[in-house]
Amino acid sequence: MSAVDITVVADAEEAARLVGERLAEQARAGGSFVLTGGSTPRRAYETAAELEPDWSRVELWWGDERCVPPDDERSNYRLAKSALLDRLGDQPAVHRIQGELGRDEGTAEYRLELTDVGAFDLVLLGLGPDGHVASLFPNFPTLDVAGRDVVGSEAGYEPFVDRISMTLPRLCNTRELLFLAAGENKADAVARAFAGAPSHQTPGSLARSAEGTTRAILDRAAASKLS
Ligand code: 6PG
Repeated sequence: MSAVDITVVADAEEAARLVGERLAEQARAGGSFVLTGGSTPRRAYETAAELEPDWSRVELWWGDERCVPPDDERSNYRLAKSALLDRLGDQPAVHRIQGELGRDEGTAEYRLELTDVGAFDLVLLGLGPDGHVASLFPNFPTLDVAGRDVVGSEAGYEPFVDRISMTLPRLCNTRELLFLAAGENKADAVARAFAGAPSHQTPGSLARSAEGTTRAILDRAAASKLS
């Protein structure tokens, strides 16, 4: 597996700033991006919108979604809309996962939308305290799904609603895979994902760009158990 280029900064704010700068830089250049959910990326999205309000050259995708309507507070789309899209002058092409259709239909629709889409330019991933990435949870059979871009899943972590997720091969088909993790509750998962042997126990340890680079931007607390 390719090595991970790790950057450790003082705190969550600085980590979000670096990721926001990287997103803004790629928005300027154009390309296809995959966003992550959870709460850590909010500041990164806000920063990216401040630094670059023209996203008209971007195709925007999501690595995973919760099966809720797009205006539900648990929706990953809603987070990106309020932190990023609503703050832009020029919109990207938005490829939202339709969580409101439910697990099976939403998965089928997103699979269709991804037909013939080549490598992404940038995939952003968070890391759960249990080591999950996107909605690919520890030891779930979804980790082994290949030959399909999208998979439906039960939740392995809160919020406990059904999930729709890109598969590992689809997430890894990117020129750059960028992790963002902050906070002490991520320290064990970070150590296992970036300094341990690849394992289904820690999905983050299996997510590496297939042909490009993999980077992790961490705050000091999240990196505290890395040797
Ligand atoms: C989701 C996410 C998930 C997230 C991690 C980290 O839909 O839940 O995409 O993989 O990135 O759970 O989330 P936090 O940043 O909130 O810790």
